[in-house]
Amino acid sequence: FESAVLDGCHVVITAGPTREALDPVRYISNHSSGKMGYALARAAQEAGARVTLISGPVTLTTPDRCQRVNVSSALEMLDAALNVVSDCDIFIASAAVADYRPAAVAEQKIKKSGDEIQLTLVKNPDIVATIASHAERPFTVGFAAETTDVAAYAKGKLARKNLDMIVANDVSQPGIGFNSDDNAVTLYWPDGEQAFAAMSKQALARELILAIAQRYTAVLGD
Ligand code: C5P
Repeated sequence: FESAVLDGCHVVITAGPTREALDPVRYISNHSSGKMGYALARAAQEAGARVTLISGPVTLTTPDRCQRVNVSSALEMLDAALNVVSDCDIFIASAAVADYRPAAVAEQKIKKSGDEIQLTLVKNPDIVATIASHAERPFTVGFAAETTDVAAYAKGKLARKNLDMIVANDVSQPGIGFNSDDNAVTLYWPDGEQAFAAMSKQALARELILAIAQRYTAVLGD
């Protein structure tokens, strides 16, 4: 592994799910394991970067020499990202952020009542799009987990969220992506793409960090 490609860079990575509280004991979340983000953090650190890992609740151990900031909700994750944005060279958003949160968090446990209950949800801010439109904008990389039309949706998100690169994976394929140890992805940027065959998330993370570092260096030189 070319160990010096990210020497002197501060890489910030969001990882894992977010939890959106309904009341003191309940939340809405998803099955993200955080494995891809943690693998990227390890690979970026091994490539010479200083790494900040903004992590939702996961059961993984923090990679060596990475600074971990624990958050729970999407709003907390956004705050943590905004805290470091002006001191960040590369921002990689691998977190599975909840798109919506309960409109209000009940102060007391919601009591069981009728046969139906209505929940009102409001949209969460888009963290990676907010970072990518920030005045002191880092080189910004997003993820797109799709089940159909993977390339088209990923390219749409690349443009709409103002990203430099996007990592697209087809989550309809069994054995890769969400919660598994392996992943196969395609990396897109405005004028190119690179496909990566199925491999372990740690091996893939190394390949992705190398490709991101190459493109980051090329864009810096423009
Ligand atoms: O639009 P979609 O959720 O598919 O986009 C996925 C990408 O956007 C990922 O990089 C994810 O981390 C990021 N994202 C975010 N904040 C949100 C929703 C998604 O940073 N509220």
